[in-house]
Amino acid sequence: MNTKKYYITTPLYYVNDKPHIGHAYTTLAADVLARHLRSRDIPVHFQTGTDEHGSNIEKIAREKGIEPKAWCDGISADFRGLWKTLNIKYDHFIRTTDPAHEAGVQAVFEKLIKSGDVYLGSYDGLYCRSCEAFYDESELKEKNCPVHGKPVEHVSEETYFFKLSKYEKALLEHYEKHPGFLSPRYRAQELINFVKSGLKDISISRTKVAWGVQVKSNPKHTVYVWFDALLNYATGAGYNPDGAGPDFDTLWPADVHLVGKEIFRFHGVIWPAMLMALGVELPRKVYAHGWWTINGDKMSKSRGNFIKAEDVVQEYGVDALRYFIFREVPFGQDGDFSMEAFKRRYNADLANDLGNLFSRLMNMAAKYLEHRMPEKPEGSEIFSELSSWTPGIQRSIEELQFGDALERIWQAVSRLNRLVDERKPWELAKKDPAALKPFLNEMVWCLRLIAGWIDPFMPDTASKMQLQLGVGKTQTAGAEPQKVPPLFPRKQEEKDKPKDIRTN
Ligand code: MSP
Repeated sequence: MNTKKYYITTPLYYVNDKPHIGHAYTTLAADVLARHLRSRDIPVHFQTGTDEHGSNIEKIAREKGIEPKAWCDGISADFRGLWKTLNIKYDHFIRTTDPAHEAGVQAVFEKLIKSGDVYLGSYDGLYCRSCEAFYDESELKEKNCPVHGKPVEHVSEETYFFKLSKYEKALLEHYEKHPGFLSPRYRAQELINFVKSGLKDISISRTKVAWGVQVKSNPKHTVYVWFDALLNYATGAGYNPDGAGPDFDTLWPADVHLVGKEIFRFHGVIWPAMLMALGVELPRKVYAHGWWTINGDKMSKSRGNFIKAEDVVQEYGVDALRYFIFREVPFGQDGDFSMEAFKRRYNADLANDLGNLFSRLMNMAAKYLEHRMPEKPEGSEIFSELSSWTPGIQRSIEELQFGDALERIWQAVSRLNRLVDERKPWELAKKDPAALKPFLNEMVWCLRLIAGWIDPFMPDTASKMQLQLGVGKTQTAGAEPQKVPPLFPRKQEEKDKPKDIRTN
């Protein structure tokens, strides 16, 4: 029997526009977790992808004068391009236009029509195209969509319904029995209350949207984008009610669906109810993180306030971005993205704390350890203390508390900086050379620990450090260290920049 892989997913991003830092956030979180688990030899499967159907995408493509599929091909490729730039290593990129996914959606629909969980009726309600979601009048903010702030449309048509109401009790029981299913806990109550307040059946097909998966037995209907997209988690793993692919058993149930808080309901209520209707085991966890905002407003292309990851990467490098987004704000909560804060952290945490520590020590190691990496230090207090932090750091990453892990790692960096300041190895070199080598030896081994800890967050930096620290794949001591440029070249602070003396 094949061993179960740890299956991590991100939402499928809409291809209405190019990706921004908000999309990168979830995908990077999945990447950090995946890299961490892989480093512990835990088999992982990380799936991401693009959500390509629906009236919004169709409308945008038509406005650009392009066929919807051609438009989707372009933007979906942009997402993959950004994931490459950001050093994100996923195992599978699914598109909702993939034939295997579409076939899975059609088969699910037919199965649920047969079982009576999906039935034909008519719908009359309010719809936001950007969310691709129906809203109750009471949910609107000043008559607009509560997420996008844009007007909603009145929609009235024949539709298939999914019997969500039937699963109210089963959902509540599931939440009760599996307290980790809706995470973090502080977001769970809102969903539980929503379910307790009574679930209505939901409309899951459209007759006026051509760009979608056709209902096989009634082709004038296309499947509602959310019903289609949510199924990706299962179809991407090989699920099809007419016969699952060979990987499904090793992947399902998904271990964690990472999502933004605005789509928690879809993942914490509708998706598990769909799985219950299909008789498929539920995922182990849905984790809803917060939003990156700009001046308090959600970062979003449709609102016109967003930061392009490529621009940040160009100036600061990939690892600085990967560090900042998980260090600045606890994963789960909202946070404001500002380039001033970014630069501050870059200079303080990366260029100064880590970068300087590393270059100071490596220069001395190169000189006084004669370019040879030493054997593991026996009886080093600092090394054994820091080594004992490893399980805590690992736990934080596994619990998706990325900020806690980084904070702990930077506590270690500060400890080492303090120790170097106290012991003053440059003076030891003159006054007590016999004490210098063992000290540098300890420091080099502590840096090895740090390089290992930061690896899931900053893989390039970790490799650069490891190269210079002589950490080979086999972790042999005695390797020749390599010279590499500074890890994080300092950026000039605005206040230090030469004043512009031109007048006009
Ligand atoms: N297509 C749906 C999801 C279907 S999943 C079966 C969708 N797409 S989206 O393009 O709007 O992406 C939403 C996701 O992108 C959020 O849930 C979150 O993961 C990420 N983010 C988009 N903007 C974000 C912020 N401003 N801040 C943090 N994450 C953000 O919804």
